[in-house]
Amino acid sequence: MCGIIGIVGKAPVAERLVESLKRLEYRGYDSAGVAGVVGNSVERRRAKGKIKALEEVLAADPLVATTGIGHTRWATHGAPNVQNAHPHSAGRVTLVHNGIIENFAELKAELAAAGRVFESDTDTEVIAHLIDAELATGLAPIDAFKATLDRLTGAYALAVLIEGADNLVLGARRGSPLVVGEGQGEMFLGSDALAVGPFTNRVIYLDEGDYVALDHDSARIFDASGAAVTRPVRVVPTSAVMMEKGNYRHFMEKEIHDQPEGCQRTIAAYVDALTSKTAVPGDVDWARLERIQIVACGTSYIAGVVGKYLIEQLADLPVDVEIASEFRYRQPALRPGALVVAMSQSGETADTLAALRYCKAKGMKSAVVVNATESTMAREVDVVWPIHCGPEIGVASTKAFTAQVSVLTAIAVAAAKARGTIDAAEEQRLVKVLLEAPRLIAEAIGLEDALKDIAADVAKARDVLYLGRGPMSALALEGALKLKEISYIHAEGYAAGELKHGPIALVDDKTPIVILAPYDSWFEKSASNMSEVMARGGQVIFITDTEGVKHAPEGAKVVVTAPASDPLVSTLVMSAPIQLLAYHVAVIKGADVDQPRNLAKSVTVE
Ligand code: G6P
Repeated sequence: MCGIIGIVGKAPVAERLVESLKRLEYRGYDSAGVAGVVGNSVERRRAKGKIKALEEVLAADPLVATTGIGHTRWATHGAPNVQNAHPHSAGRVTLVHNGIIENFAELKAELAAAGRVFESDTDTEVIAHLIDAELATGLAPIDAFKATLDRLTGAYALAVLIEGADNLVLGARRGSPLVVGEGQGEMFLGSDALAVGPFTNRVIYLDEGDYVALDHDSARIFDASGAAVTRPVRVVPTSAVMMEKGNYRHFMEKEIHDQPEGCQRTIAAYVDALTSKTAVPGDVDWARLERIQIVACGTSYIAGVVGKYLIEQLADLPVDVEIASEFRYRQPALRPGALVVAMSQSGETADTLAALRYCKAKGMKSAVVVNATESTMAREVDVVWPIHCGPEIGVASTKAFTAQVSVLTAIAVAAAKARGTIDAAEEQRLVKVLLEAPRLIAEAIGLEDALKDIAADVAKARDVLYLGRGPMSALALEGALKLKEISYIHAEGYAAGELKHGPIALVDDKTPIVILAPYDSWFEKSASNMSEVMARGGQVIFITDTEGVKHAPEGAKVVVTAPASDPLVSTLVMSAPIQLLAYHVAVIKGADVDQPRNLAKSVTVE
């Protein structure tokens, strides 16, 4: 998760770019750089480390320009050095990028075969070469940019300068945020409203797939199809910029949409995208570890259950997951050869903290998967595994859940490799699968309109049943929890195989039954459960994927088709549909989505 800024200005920009980068430093500080249009060429200044180092470079070698771009880097592809620092240049093109280009290896090979020479290890540099190659065919800058965007797979926010085009900054977003700021005779581009905050409070939030051409006076915005579009200008109160909801009505909605970028940042911290190997921080001897004990509450507990499925299956390592409030008051049989892993967004939940301390007192090594890295839990454990998804404001957890699952997925692959249950080739395959997850999550979020329609029906229900098998049984719990938390409709999540042992008694023609069934090894069994429910008049909302839809029994009331994915990441991909369903039901019911009654974000009492 890097930070980017672009300015088409009247006055000098170097200092202003740096000022913005300082506000974006929370997004990463491995290196920083700026570029500006100087006469007929574009000049760069770059430095390894924090913005302060870039300021020193600029003091020694000033950049005199009125149009420019800047970047603060959180390394994914390539070591954090000057050579890999943004902006990257090729021919007439200089650009900054936040995100991961998944098909960069193929594109790089193609460009290298055409004689292009690369100076960095980054995925970003291929974008500069692609645009430059398109310009060389005679295309106008905006058309060369669009032709390039059409060739990229993955997530990006971009800001681009073109030599010879003094009054122009191009931008694009897919999976990573980007805003346009409107000034007086000046235009700005930034990763968030905070970045453009010193210059303007008039902000346009670009939509997924949008690209834009900025000049001194205007922002010409186009959607992914290339059609010119208008997006609303919002006036953002300066004090609220940190907590800005953007175009979203609620933080929960924003946080659902934040997930591609949040997960991307998480995953990038736990794998090496260049070598496709896992890179889980912390000193844990996976090969010798006897057992993992996960303790957590609420949604964090459910993330732990997903982790159990993945870790046991891939790494043959026993994992127990327990609700912390139960664990702390019984006398669990613990052994020092086990690792206790607390899962907690806040790092402060009283029950989880007590369970963690209990295990530590028994001599167990400890770790926490946590968002708040300065929290009590983070300070007390041996190993901190941050989830890197940024602050979560909505009380009902969404992006923290998928980030927690991302961490546990990387851990499952790392432990499997260390324990010899998978070989190096399989590790590489799985890491590539994981790196593709943010794009698939973004595609799943694209189902929002369909889910909004379904929500209108679900909002009328008194009870809702969620069913799934394997990791989807955990997601069924999460679907039910989300719905009851924010819409106050009674909901139950069940392992679908348990249907006939109780919940089937709830089935009638008024009870929506959400079945979560991607096309995996459990699919046939889930499809049978769907038939059993329909035979009793049940109204099935079948959430499957592009493969599953081909094999699903007829008769579901509605079918939602998520993108197909490897089972390693199907929980991540299927999360957005259940979150969006709950969200839209709550909105229809007029509930207080971000602050549901009786709940709190951080429960520091038992
Ligand atoms: C509260 C929140 C939930 C959260 C749970 C655990 O109940 O409303 O969203 O899952 O606490 O919180 P933690 O910070 O430990 O993940």
